[in-house]
Amino acid sequence: MQHLSSCFCLVAVLVQRVLADAALVFDADDYNSGYYGANPNQTYYSSDIVSPLLQVNEWDKGRTDSDTIRVYQLLIPTPFSNAPYIFLALASPLGTESGPVILRADDLSLVYAEPKWPNAHNAHVGTLHGTDYLVFFEGVQRNGQWAGQCLIYDSSYELVHNITAKGINASVDIHECQMTTSGSVLITVYQPIIYDLTPVGGPPNGELVDNIAQEIDVETGELLWTWRASDHYDLADSYVKYKASPGGWDFFHMNSIDRSAEGNFLINSRHTHTVTYVDGSTGDIIWTLGGKKNDFRDISDGNALSFGWQHHARFHDDDLTQVTFFDNHNVSTTPDCTVNCSRGLHLQLDFEDMTVQVVNEYFHPHSLVTGFMGSYQSTPNGNTLVGWGPNPTFTEYTPDGECVLDVQFDAWAPPSGGRGNYRAFKMDWKGFPSWEPSIASTAAGSALNGSTGSNVFVSWNGATEVKSWQLLRGGTPESVVSLSMLVSRAGFETKLAVKAGSRYVRALALDAEGQVLGVTSIVDLRTNKAVPDPESVV
Ligand SMILES: *[C@@H]1O[C@H](CO)[C@@H](O)[C@H](O)[C@H]1NC(C)=O
Ligand SMILES: *[C@@H]1O[C@H](CO)[C@@H](O)[C@H](O)[C@H]1NC(C)=O
Ligand SMILES: *[C@@H]1O[C@H](CO)[C@@H](O)[C@H](O)[C@H]1NC(C)=O
Ligand SMILES: *[C@@H]1O[C@H](CO)[C@@H](O)[C@H](O)[C@H]1NC(C)=O
Ligand SMILES: *[C@@H]1O[C@H](CO)[C@@H](O)[C@H](O)[C@H]1NC(C)=O
Ligand SMILES: *[C@@H]1O[C@H](CO)[C@@H](O)[C@H](O)[C@H]1NC(C)=O
Repeated sequence: MQHLSSCFCLVAVLVQRVLADAALVFDADDYNSGYYGANPNQTYYSSDIVSPLLQVNEWDKGRTDSDTIRVYQLLIPTPFSNAPYIFLALASPLGTESGPVILRADDLSLVYAEPKWPNAHNAHVGTLHGTDYLVFFEGVQRNGQWAGQCLIYDSSYELVHNITAKGINASVDIHECQMTTSGSVLITVYQPIIYDLTPVGGPPNGELVDNIAQEIDVETGELLWTWRASDHYDLADSYVKYKASPGGWDFFHMNSIDRSAEGNFLINSRHTHTVTYVDGSTGDIIWTLGGKKNDFRDISDGNALSFGWQHHARFHDDDLTQVTFFDNHNVSTTPDCTVNCSRGLHLQLDFEDMTVQVVNEYFHPHSLVTGFMGSYQSTPNGNTLVGWGPNPTFTEYTPDGECVLDVQFDAWAPPSGGRGNYRAFKMDWKGFPSWEPSIASTAAGSALNGSTGSNVFVSWNGATEVKSWQLLRGGTPESVVSLSMLVSRAGFETKLAVKAGSRYVRALALDAEGQVLGVTSIVDLRTNKAVPDPESVV
């Protein structure tokens, strides 16, 4: 929490705000026509990270969910917002910029990227005993199936739990890796089995991809619950025609699991077009929404039950009468659809009359069909954030359906294949990396003998609490102590202009109260190289 006094003094000594990040793009025509390259990106001086250059199609700042981290804007301290960060996990055609990605919601600048995980999906914040963790899936593709782990990192980005499938010779699948509010994690497992496929015209000993839902205790690794789709669904419930395929026929395609407070489960199946509520003790199906065994009557003229190929089904609230999901509605992916476009779908269920109706549907302003992936999140302030899978964008809507944020992280359909994103979230997060902040300089030699000085760039991958940077400089590494200007964070990377005269510099990363969070190494402005730390600093 902020204190009024520290806010005042910080505002008083701020010197300047210099941008180092590339500016956001506000020109959809240029962006989508390839003006910024095939996969628009930006690089940094102080980091090897390559991050997407963002195109802003819509941004009504004041109406998005708590997008301002208003520390400096007002002299009156403002509470931190509910959902000030955007969580993505980019699948990149180039593989060099993928991994979990966190952006600030108030300026869309990069906060964290970890490209060492090439196949990260579903990055989100989970809470265990009141402590927040960064959770995501990471794995590899084998025989058409994903095999990996559900990884749980603490606020210093150290791995604390590595969740694997239990009691089964198969790995965690890509589709779900979700912390619950009761100390467990939900995972999907795709397991090839030999199965009688004669009901769908296959062989009696055919290959089937069975789908298993597992709930696992995060701390003990104990298997708490398991449910197998083939025990409860008929093969003929699938909308995907049987075809012998390497790794088996994927009849069900489970892609999300949610847990209710009483310990039952909401299971989403893309290939049967069903959202199923399952009894946590017996495994029996309590009700089925959609598909061939639907239990509900559509009182929205067919608009509620017309969904299909859907993703990311969640209960909207604790009384379990509303569900939300991303209705792909189609298996192809294109912008500019005219019919059967994809949508974020919010449905109301009535268990007395067994009816379903549309509460809200959110189409993309650019009319998109998303054939796979996609997400729907109800943000803390009641807005809705929709992720569009292989269509490289995320979109936020107010409850009355107005789009107040639409940001692209790639052109619509770049020839080399675009960046996709499985799910998008807006959440709160505090990151205190275990590594130190980075520093780099340009214009070698000029600080000593030129008149233009040097540019020093600082960044700290993953740090959320840095509000300003302070440069220390000196003629020798030992004398890099004199306090210099204070510059407020100006994006992922902040540029500090150094006048000619000092050969050695380093920077301190400060929080909102002026406390030092981290110290960079010392850089020699003559060589632009780091020099050993004389250990006499600060
Ligand atoms: C970044 O953009 C450049 C210029 O268009 C392109 O050549 C390069 O492949 C892109 N890199 C990544 C990692 O997307
Ligand atoms: C998680 O555990 C699996 C199985 O033991 C292992 O293969 C994998 O490398 C681990 N992941 C990390 C990030 O440590
Ligand atoms: C586990 O599955 C793999 C392939 O999926 C197979 O090669 C291996 O033999 C299995 N192990 C056991 C113990 O069944
Ligand atoms: C739209 O989807 C419905 C199913 O919801 C389907 O019956 C119809 O043929 C589709 N229309 C087009 C033009 O594809
Ligand atoms: C899927 O979308 C494409 C492109 O908009 C459209 O031509 C096709 O009819 C749609 N198919 C269905 C089944 O809705
Ligand atoms: C500036 O200093 C560097 C490093 O000592 C030297 O290499 C360079 O020649 C000097 N440039 C000028 C213009 O004096």
